[in-house]
Amino acid sequence: MKNLAIYIHWPFCQSKCPYCDFNSHVAARIDHEAWREAYKKELAHYAALLPARRVTSIFFGGGTPSLMEPETATTALNEIARHWPIANDVEITLEANPTSVEAEKFAGFRAAGVNRLSLGVQSLRDEALQFLGRAHDTGQARRAIDLAEKYFPRFSFDLIYARRDQTPELWEQELREALALTNGHLSAYQLTIEPNTAFHTLAGRGENVTASAEHSALMYEQTQTIMVEAGMPAYEISNHARPGDEGRHNLTYWRYDDYIGIGPGAHGRFVTDTARYATETHRAPEVWLRHVREQGHGLKISTPIDDETAKREALMMGLRLAEGLSHAQWQAKFGTSLMDFLPVEKCAHLEAEGYLTATGGHFRATAAGRQRLNAVLGYLAG
Ligand SMILES: C[S@@+](CC[C@H](N)C(=O)[O-])C[C@H]1O[C@@H](n2cnc3c(N)ncnc32)[C@H](O)[C@@H]1O
Ligand code: SF4
Repeated sequence: MKNLAIYIHWPFCQSKCPYCDFNSHVAARIDHEAWREAYKKELAHYAALLPARRVTSIFFGGGTPSLMEPETATTALNEIARHWPIANDVEITLEANPTSVEAEKFAGFRAAGVNRLSLGVQSLRDEALQFLGRAHDTGQARRAIDLAEKYFPRFSFDLIYARRDQTPELWEQELREALALTNGHLSAYQLTIEPNTAFHTLAGRGENVTASAEHSALMYEQTQTIMVEAGMPAYEISNHARPGDEGRHNLTYWRYDDYIGIGPGAHGRFVTDTARYATETHRAPEVWLRHVREQGHGLKISTPIDDETAKREALMMGLRLAEGLSHAQWQAKFGTSLMDFLPVEKCAHLEAEGYLTATGGHFRATAAGRQRLNAVLGYLAG
């Protein structure tokens, strides 16, 4: 039976962070019962479309899913189990913010079946948390980490580095402090300026928001070195884990395996008996809710994609991973050789430059290649 990963989007946050362009909204009132019903309905839609599947991972992402009522997670998980067999080692992750209100609910989410928490710590410096517009301070972050460790078999947390005023020395101190708090997995994201965010406006006015390009590159390299020393090398550009502790859900995206997206603005990629599909639901929470109520799903786009498009996407995703693309998995997925798809001369050039490498049945980007992956992909596609 083929595997399936399920992403469930909760689109609400307490406040909007100035760097964030995720599909997140601040709402005065949320009808939790209506959300439970809508999740159930959209899950039933996919159960009819993809019946013979085993669910290997479930991910409640956001927005801030720790603002859900734990009962909503219970409802979604029960509904999934009613439709599909669940793998014995299923990974069920929930993204959480470290404010105390949310931390109090951890026991409830654990009881619902969540077995992995991903905490948005972002920084261990109070000034930085204020700059990032976060609703928590470092004391709350540390307490939330303690509680995550107490309630969940696995947890990870996110940090954002390359902030303005942050030097490589300061980042090294902060990262080493963070390392002492980890339990097998850490995501370290370089601060990026996204369109339609408050930071984009600030940067547009000429204000410093991020560290200099030179410092940012140094901090990326420093992160790789420190994390390798700590036994948690990068398995993806921004994700580091002890071998075996990788986030299995996100690996599904990067390995281009099948996943469905439930909730507003969620994406899916999966193969049915007849075609490979790309899906996307309506982004606005109320619009998604109305569509689900009226037609059983909130899909805005559901199109078959051709092999050429799928291969391009698979290459883009696979090169994010340290393991790169497996020739055998490519062959199994597309029925053709990866070598037939790659532009041979361009690859040879990038290999000579030290950005790509082919070893042990895998084709992958080196650490230097992953650091400038957009440029590498642009060159391959151009
Ligand atoms: C969907 S958000 C996490 C959800 C949760 N609400 C939170 O804030 O912790 C996923 C992560 O992406 C990272 N992120 C979002 N926007 C970013 C940006 N512009 N630059 C760097 N990291 C960013 C943050 O570390 C964030 O925790
Ligand atoms: S970073 Fe997290 S809490 Fe902040 S707006 Fe984005 S999703 Fe919401």
